[in-house]
Amino acid sequence: MKDGFFPPIPVDGDPSKPMYIQLYDWFRSAIIGGRLRPGQKVPSSRQLAAELKVSRITVLSAFKQLHAEGYLEGSVGSGTYIAKSIPDHAVKLTLGDALQRLPSEAQHGPRRVSKLGTKFLSAPAIPRGFRAFQVGLPALDRFPRTIWSRLLIRHSRQTKKELMAYGDPMGRLACREAVAEYLRVVRGVRCHPGQIMIVTGSQQALDIAARVLVDPGDPVWLEEPCYLGAVRAFAAVGARLVPVRVDQEGLDVNRGIKRCPDARVAVVTPSHQFPLGMTMSATRRVLLLDWATRNGSWIVEDDYDNEFRFGIRSIASLQGLDTDERVIYAGSFSKVLFPSLRIGYLIIPDDLIPAFSRVRETSDIFPPPLHQEVLTDFIREGHLERHIRRMRTLYLERHDMLVAEIRKQLEPTFEILTANAGTYLVLLLPEGFQDTVVAEKAAQVDISAVPLSICYLEEHRRQGLILGYGGVNRKKIQDGMSKLAAILKA
Ligand SMILES: Cc1ncc(COP(=O)(O)O)c(C=O)c1O
Repeated sequence: MKDGFFPPIPVDGDPSKPMYIQLYDWFRSAIIGGRLRPGQKVPSSRQLAAELKVSRITVLSAFKQLHAEGYLEGSVGSGTYIAKSIPDHAVKLTLGDALQRLPSEAQHGPRRVSKLGTKFLSAPAIPRGFRAFQVGLPALDRFPRTIWSRLLIRHSRQTKKELMAYGDPMGRLACREAVAEYLRVVRGVRCHPGQIMIVTGSQQALDIAARVLVDPGDPVWLEEPCYLGAVRAFAAVGARLVPVRVDQEGLDVNRGIKRCPDARVAVVTPSHQFPLGMTMSATRRVLLLDWATRNGSWIVEDDYDNEFRFGIRSIASLQGLDTDERVIYAGSFSKVLFPSLRIGYLIIPDDLIPAFSRVRETSDIFPPPLHQEVLTDFIREGHLERHIRRMRTLYLERHDMLVAEIRKQLEPTFEILTANAGTYLVLLLPEGFQDTVVAEKAAQVDISAVPLSICYLEEHRRQGLILGYGGVNRKKIQDGMSKLAAILKA
């Protein structure tokens, strides 16, 4: 309750009780129940009287009593506050009150949530933070923050009226134009700005795609192993998840066809398979597109970190090869800029635009405009291109440094899976190691290592650690690897 904000205080609920007692009761129970916090400011008696339409004497009488019992402190002139320590007798009351307020679980059994809500409780958590080898973290210390701030100031100095109203569920046109142009050049996609939807990261892209394309029970191919966020998005709509193994050429399309020929959707990361890193071969791409066309199925292409390839040419997107508008393409600025930006994009086949647009409206209606404006200028003024170029060099250095440290500190039985791309690699663990156990031990010494096995849906799981290097500097790579090696040698 800040100065000026008034909680709803029902003071005329019980005509048999004087007003000041009702007010006293309300404050007492709100303090004991924790709704009002110790040290919090209470509105002045004058404001409270005016708001509640009672006399000031009423409020002062209630405050006097509350002061006397130690619930309020402060004085006229310096303001009134909730007491920093609640009186002892009130604590006893709290217990009594708490017993009365026990959640109904104690009285009526488990409190019901959906099957999905229950299932997701036991799903592995995706680690977040700043620890060494944190996956998905770009080099935030190298981000051109001054340029970004300048653009942010440019767009926030004077809030345009049009930016304050509801906007287009597809996003701001200028931003979509800039993104479309960038993608046409860099990723070889075929699209016009009308097909671009600005979303809050590729996770929302996956979520919307799942809700538009899948009915409960529909089979969906997922790469095995696969990104957990994709598993969740498609599980959330009740899809029947069909894991399809990847090999050196990426998704084994023929295996998928044998296992479940009529899948509604295939979700793939063809540029840089998550998490194993391979690139889908041209043959597999053609096979996949051909299957989708013949079967009337959709392909969701998650191109989450396409910008960073070292020494090898960037591979054109699957979407660019598609002649039947079967591919829904998802990408993100989380890795290339920074994750809290929460800007990603979808390229939607023309005929699906209305459905995607309507489904998007049911969640967040439209993306917030300010950062879209900033991003548009960041792309148009060439900063994005420059930043990508610099980061490619830096990530290559960090990649090589991590590989060298692994080679130096561990036996050759520890195999490295790397595609010379992206911001992470996989350290395979030899027989006898359990990656979840290693990851837990690593967390205890402040090292983040995502166990590879949690990315599998079926029983046969390779054991390994997914190690991010994008956001990790030289010192952290060396120290982190020493700590990890110590755990692995122990
Ligand atoms: C394969 C893959 N897809 C999607 C995402 C989600 O990224 P965001 O929602 O931040 O764009 C990630 C994040 O690490 C990822 O690794």
